[in-house]
Order: sequence, then structure tokens, then C-alpha cells
Amino acid sequence: MFELKDKTIMVTGGAQGIGKAISTALAGQGAKVAIADIDETAAAQTADELSQQNHKVMAVQTDITDPDKVKQSVARVKEAFGGIDVLVNNAGWDRMIPFVDTTPDFWDKVIDINYKGVLNCVYAVIHDMIDKNGGKIINISSDAARVGSSGEAVYAGAKGAVISFSKSLAREVARNQITVNVICPGPTDTPLTQQMQAESEFAQKVLSKMDKVIPLRRTGTPEEIAAAVVFFASKEADFITGQTLSVSGGLTMSS
Ligand SMILES: NC(=O)c1ccc[n+]([C@@H]2O[C@H](COP(=O)([O-])OP(=O)(O)OC[C@H]3O[C@@H](n4cnc5c(N)ncnc54)[C@H](O)[C@@H]3O)[C@@H](O)[C@H]2O)c1
Repeated sequence: MFELKDKTIMVTGGAQGIGKAISTALAGQGAKVAIADIDETAAAQTADELSQQNHKVMAVQTDITDPDKVKQSVARVKEAFGGIDVLVNNAGWDRMIPFVDTTPDFWDKVIDINYKGVLNCVYAVIHDMIDKNGGKIINISSDAARVGSSGEAVYAGAKGAVISFSKSLAREVARNQITVNVICPGPTDTPLTQQMQAESEFAQKVLSKMDKVIPLRRTGTPEEIAAAVVFFASKEADFITGQTLSVSGGLTMSS
């Protein structure tokens, strides 16, 4: 059992996929979880499901690309659950398209959600964390950022920026007892990867080969990513900061 009882945790993109598994796992450890998602209906549905299991959860509609909305969402969470102890930046978006076929509008969307969204959410919580001398930030990047991924050049760049930002921020706020860590999922079965495959033959071709490419011979489950988040969020991880952990069946191996 990891020590998370009564911690207030905000999970962006918590309504479905990896974010839903993260919200479920954190709530299961006794945390008060705010499911912050652009999809209000799905967020409310996930919050209902978890409330029925006697977990302390709330749904909060937000758009991580809009700094004002993020600020309002954080204020709502603070009012309902108290100050945010842990922020999990999980919301993300991608489509698998070779770079030569992408457009500047597509780059903006990918960078706004996957990189600037993280900046907006961190900015909205970090001043309070500094004031209370403690907090944890967990950013969901991707193994695409560590080794590259065909058809995901802009996404991999944005997720790489998340890693570099996290390491730099970890250095800046360590004196305030705030830790910043990154988890890099490999291919994981979620609505995102299902949608990518449904929309593109190229994505279908690349993702269907993953069972052969991944050393452990399978893709991951959202619950396996969530387990790593629970650890980084817990008191047991107090002395770990600036680290990047792949949860990807050995797809990338680091020193
Ligand atoms: N699934 C994978 O194979 C995989 C691999 C590596 C990294 N990741 C990363 O894991 C995270 C979760 O991915 P997933 O596969 O569960 O995706 P998903 O699409 O299934 O879920 C993402 C959630 O984020 C929400 N969201 C999207 N844009 C938002 C915005 N602007 N503001 C607030 N919420 C928003 C969506 O409504 C959705 O509920 C993402 O950061 C993704 O890049 C996923």
C-alpha cells in the first residue's frame, strides 16, 4: 500500500484510457482525485463510476490548452478538495501522419495539447506548491520521445520537450521539496490508439507490428502505466526527482 490517503490529486485527461486507469488506481489508494477533462460527459461518467465504489472523486471540465480555463479548474478543485498535492499531466493527443504530409495547423494542435498543456497546468499549481513547500508533478510523455517514432515526428518532439522541461523544472523546484518525474508509456491499448488505427492504414500497419517489436511481446495496459504513477505520487518516492521511467515492455532501455 502506497501512502496517498487524503492527498488531493488532479489528473488531466482522466476520463478515459490511461487517465481513467490512473484516476482509478490513485482513488483506490485513498487519494481525493479530480478528473479534469475536456470531455465533460465522459469525465462525469468516470467520476460516477468511481464514486459508486466509495472513492472520493470529482469531475472538472477543462481545456489544458486554455490557461484561464485551467486556472478556473484548479480553483474548483481547491475549493472542493483542498490544495493540490499531486498533478498528473496525462491529457494528450496524436494522429499518425508522416511529417511530409502534416500541416502547420496540425503542428500547433499537437504542440498546444502535448507540450503547452503541460506548461499551463504546471503554472496553475506550482505557486501554491512552492508556498506550502511540497508537491509532486508527474508528466506522461511517451517512448516516442526517447527513440523516435515514424509518423509521430511532431508528437515525439512535443513529448521530448515535456521530458526536457520536467528535468529543468525538477532542478528549479527541488529546494521547495517539489518533485517532477516523467513516465513514458510505450504502445498501450486505449481509445487513442484505437482511433488512430481506425482512421489510418499507416497507423494500423505500424501498431499491429508492436507485439513483435516489444521485447516482452505485447503492448501495455493502462493499469500498468497507472501503477508507475501511483509509485511516483506516493511518499515512498519522496527522494526521486527529475527521472524518466519507461513502462513499455522493454521497447526502450536506458542506462
Ligand atoms: N496509448 C498509447 O499508446 C500511449 C503511448 C505513449 C504515450 N501516451 C500518452 O498517454 C496519455 C494518455 O493517452 P491515452 O492513450 O489514454 O489517450 P486517450 O485519447 O484515450 O485519452 C486522453 C484523454 O485526454 C482528454 N483530453 C484531450 N485533449 C484535452 C484537452 N485539451 N484538455 C483536457 N483533456 C483533454 C481526452 O478527452 C481523453 O479523455 C497521453 O498523454 C498520450 O500521449 C499514450
